[in-house]
Amino acid sequence: PKVTLINPDDSRIDLDVEVGDSIMRAATAAGIEGIVGDCGGGMSCATCHVVVLDDAYLAKTPEMSLTEDQMLDFTAMEREPNSRLSCQLVMSEEMDGMVVRVADPQL
Ligand code: FES
Repeated sequence: PKVTLINPDDSRIDLDVEVGDSIMRAATAAGIEGIVGDCGGGMSCATCHVVVLDDAYLAKTPEMSLTEDQMLDFTAMEREPNSRLSCQLVMSEEMDGMVVRVADPQL
């Protein structure tokens, strides 16, 4: 399955993410600048912030844990209603075609 990332400069990247792999892992492996993933997916760095564009897709993503919810208060760019930590967005077939905006680290 594929996810489309929209970078802060509005460029778009289609990324293959294997089922069971997180979007953070696939994005860092592909060298996407805006997704750093300092903590390796441990929900302690908040450098993997993305915003899911479509509510219908948000409903297909793994449920947000309390820890993720709390960490989203510490992101560089202020959180939005559809903000997620991409290390917690573990890919499933259902999520194929999802579009996410990469948080702007300058904000
Ligand atoms: Fe650190 Fe997601 S990679 S919080």
